[in-house]
Amino acid sequence: MTDANAILSAMTVSDKRLRHTLGVAECAKKLAATHFPALDRNEVELAALMHDFTKEYTFEQQLELCRYYGIILSEEEREEPKLIHSKTAAAIADERFGLSKEACSAIYWHTTGRAAMTPFETVIYLADYIEEFREHPDCVRLRNYYEKRIQKEKDKSVALIKTLIKSFDITIKMLIDDGKIINGAAVTARNYYIKALWEKTGK
Ligand SMILES: [Fe+2]
Ligand SMILES: [Fe+2]
Repeated sequence: MTDANAILSAMTVSDKRLRHTLGVAECAKKLAATHFPALDRNEVELAALMHDFTKEYTFEQQLELCRYYGIILSEEEREEPKLIHSKTAAAIADERFGLSKEACSAIYWHTTGRAAMTPFETVIYLADYIEEFREHPDCVRLRNYYEKRIQKEKDKSVALIKTLIKSFDITIKMLIDDGKIINGAAVTARNYYIKALWEKTGK
């Protein structure tokens, strides 16, 4: 049975990324406790610790892992190598550390998010964006937004859905401003959560 120490001792990341990784673990457990208490907090922690396991690997190392695990890359991923680490980390979490299917799927989707995320996928995706050590202005903005919404909304799931929509809005705007390709998953996810909000609030 994998424990946190087994993952941490195999990890080769900078101090900054380690701090971020531990921040994601704390934040994901908190999000799970608030929104999805049935989630196994230990599993959530392990997935969080694994999520950026390969983030600092070179592009060549990433491609080698893709070949080894039979990961087929989309055109978007070949254009934007940063997206590949989610897939290689998920493959390692499965094969080397034996994490559950749900945990591996949350690692797999953590960068882009997607429509109809499972509770597990949701907490890892959002924690990666808003954990306390993230200093990028977009992350700070989303963190503050979530904290305000959780205070104001009577229904915590509405606060969560609104925060997910905001996250996709911020990401898509940033990609447009930077002249980058927009990953299709972000657009589909945004539309999905807007409809989910309409269904909840009747708007
Ligand atoms: Fe990542
Ligand atoms: Fe991350």
